[in-house]
Amino acid sequence: MAAVPTEDLYIRARAAAEYIRRLSPLQPRLGLILGSGLGDFASKVENAITLPYSEIPHFPLSTVVGHSGHLLLGTIAGVPVAVMQGRVHAYEGYSMEQVTFPMRVLGLLGIKHLIVTNAAGGINTGYGQGGIVAISDHINLTGQNAAVGPNEPRFGLLPGSGQRFFDMTQAYSPALRQFAIAEATKQGWELPEGVYLAVLGPSYETPAEIRAFRTLGADLVGMSTVHEVIIARHMGIEVLGLSVVTNMAAGVLDQPIDHEEVMEIGRRIAQRFTGLLTALIPQIAAV
Ligand code: HPA
Repeated sequence: MAAVPTEDLYIRARAAAEYIRRLSPLQPRLGLILGSGLGDFASKVENAITLPYSEIPHFPLSTVVGHSGHLLLGTIAGVPVAVMQGRVHAYEGYSMEQVTFPMRVLGLLGIKHLIVTNAAGGINTGYGQGGIVAISDHINLTGQNAAVGPNEPRFGLLPGSGQRFFDMTQAYSPALRQFAIAEATKQGWELPEGVYLAVLGPSYETPAEIRAFRTLGADLVGMSTVHEVIIARHMGIEVLGLSVVTNMAAGVLDQPIDHEEVMEIGRRIAQRFTGLLTALIPQIAAV
């Protein structure tokens, strides 16, 4: 575990952003966080400068297999992007501040839009394994909130952002979601919407928990994303969330959940995922 930081969060995030700016003149318009098994999309970034998290001041390092930690700056379909290949999770023992530190840095680099992706369990039995779902809303059952602590208005670079209390009614932008749904239809497949429920992990859920979560209105379950989205909203960034249903949630099928399978599904749907993202990024950046 990293030592207790001595400088305030804003100063550390600014130091990381300044380090990145010195190495790449690119002004990213859009941030992309690649979840479990989805990291290969990073190879689609053109003219990329790749920075290992270990070289960026104050960046946390992931301990999970399948989450290589690199920040890439480059372009996708001509759009300047900052891509996080890998993230850290609260279940690894990281604080909320550490989990969302890279998100803070992306915000300071000036992104206006975020595409956040993850692997999730399917609670909604209408989903199939390997399906992609657009996140319409979330339920944060991790018991933690990344915006806890002194409010730092200097993170409020965009209009209306940086507030102590901030709105989450449109945490996942309906407009960006409509772009994604329309693009999927154009590419010949259906992109359903769903509510993502976040747990702390690292244990998968029990069947009783999944039944309870379904009653609460959840369609997907996972161990990431909500904290990054909370911080993105604090900074006024518009969010599109995409989940890959890597497995049906506990108890839906009569079989245990296997992490290897979770990773394998991500790789299997890579082509569809890549096709969607590559077409979407220029549309979103044009908003
Ligand atoms: N539960 C929680 N997180 C997950 C799952 C799951 O079933 N699958 C992938 N991430």
